[in-house]
Amino acid sequence: MTAFLYLIAGLVWFYVLVYYFLIKGTRCSSPVKLKGKTVIVTGSNTGIGKATALELAKRGARVILACRSKERAEAAAFDIRRESGNNQVLFMQLDLASLKSVRSFAETFLKSEPRLDILINNAGVIASGRTEDGFGLAFGVNHLGHFLLTNLLLERLKQCGPSRVVTVSALLHRFGSIDFPLLASRKDLVSGESTWQSIQAYCNSKLCNVLFTRELANQLEGTNVSCYSLHPGVISTEIGRNLSPWQQLLMKPLAKLFFLDLEGGSQTTLHCALQEGLEPLSGRYFSNCALRQVGARGRDDAVAKKLWEVSERLAGLLQQTGS
Ligand SMILES: NC(=O)c1ccc[n+]([C@@H]2O[C@H](COP(=O)([O-])OP(=O)(O)OC[C@H]3O[C@@H](n4cnc5c(N)ncnc54)[C@H](OP(=O)(O)O)[C@@H]3O)[C@@H](O)[C@H]2O)c1
Ligand SMILES: *[C@@H]1O[C@H](CO)[C@@H](O)[C@H](O)[C@H]1NC(C)=O
Repeated sequence: MTAFLYLIAGLVWFYVLVYYFLIKGTRCSSPVKLKGKTVIVTGSNTGIGKATALELAKRGARVILACRSKERAEAAAFDIRRESGNNQVLFMQLDLASLKSVRSFAETFLKSEPRLDILINNAGVIASGRTEDGFGLAFGVNHLGHFLLTNLLLERLKQCGPSRVVTVSALLHRFGSIDFPLLASRKDLVSGESTWQSIQAYCNSKLCNVLFTRELANQLEGTNVSCYSLHPGVISTEIGRNLSPWQQLLMKPLAKLFFLDLEGGSQTTLHCALQEGLEPLSGRYFSNCALRQVGARGRDDAVAKKLWEVSERLAGLLQQTGS
């Protein structure tokens, strides 16, 4: 009986230690205020994106919720306005699974908003299926849609420098890989539609986020725009909504014990968006509000450059400029 009690006490202590040193995470300590600044957060009707948008609103920014569902985003905008006391929070329709929608979002934004100071590419999915343009969903939404969006907004970001592009990747980028011939033949980075493959596709798309940020930093040299990618931590959000019911059941207790809350989950994004003096680290990857080394495949400049060129073609950016 005593041994049992010791065991329980030991486990509780172990949990407390793990929680405080590994899970709770560091907080963004920047005092920066954003009055007069405009930010876009994609996928900000729920999860980490919503928590990020809330904090940016509290700091006085004009916050554009770039989301696909008007209903969900209007509800989030209402919450954020109420909780932040900032009424400069508005919804603009953006479906990253449609290149046409990305273009029309950018057009509307550029016409109606004079500034862009921070672009946060946050939206993400783990799911099988295809985008409107026939790309694998994770590749299309997590990478290609954000790739096009960023490119279409780049001139405005340059005009408003110092400005930033923050792309939410994930630790799972370490398990990602990029198979260009497969991408050319299947418009996807995986060869099938199983649950396992949709998780692999997610990892691959998160590697794309890291490589995109790396090459973007090269392209932005000599401008006042800097860019960062990051792992937000492990957070209980709706990201697992497309997993099977038993997979979700398995996750629930783990999530309650070990995952960050939403506010905690937004801290590294906020760090990359706000922390002063980060510019020399443009193109790099962060976790727990600190610089981190990316996985080996995330350091390959040749692959980063190739992904950029392929993405330009897939997103239809080259036709437009006629080159
Ligand atoms: N949660 C974690 O532990 C974790 C860990 C590592 C990285 N991340 C990354 O963190 C980011 C945010 O994820 P989350 O955990 O907050 O997930 P979430 O709760 O599922 O939120 C994802 C957001 O992306 C939006 N979205 C999905 N497809 C879209 C599309 N086609 N067009 C526009 N928006 C779309 C969703 O909108 P709807 O509500 O309309 O679907 C939602 O607002 C993702 O990039 C994810 O990869 C999360
Ligand atoms: C960057 O910002 C600095 C300081 O505001 C300014 O002097 C410089 O001209 C800017 N550079 C570019 C390329 O816009």
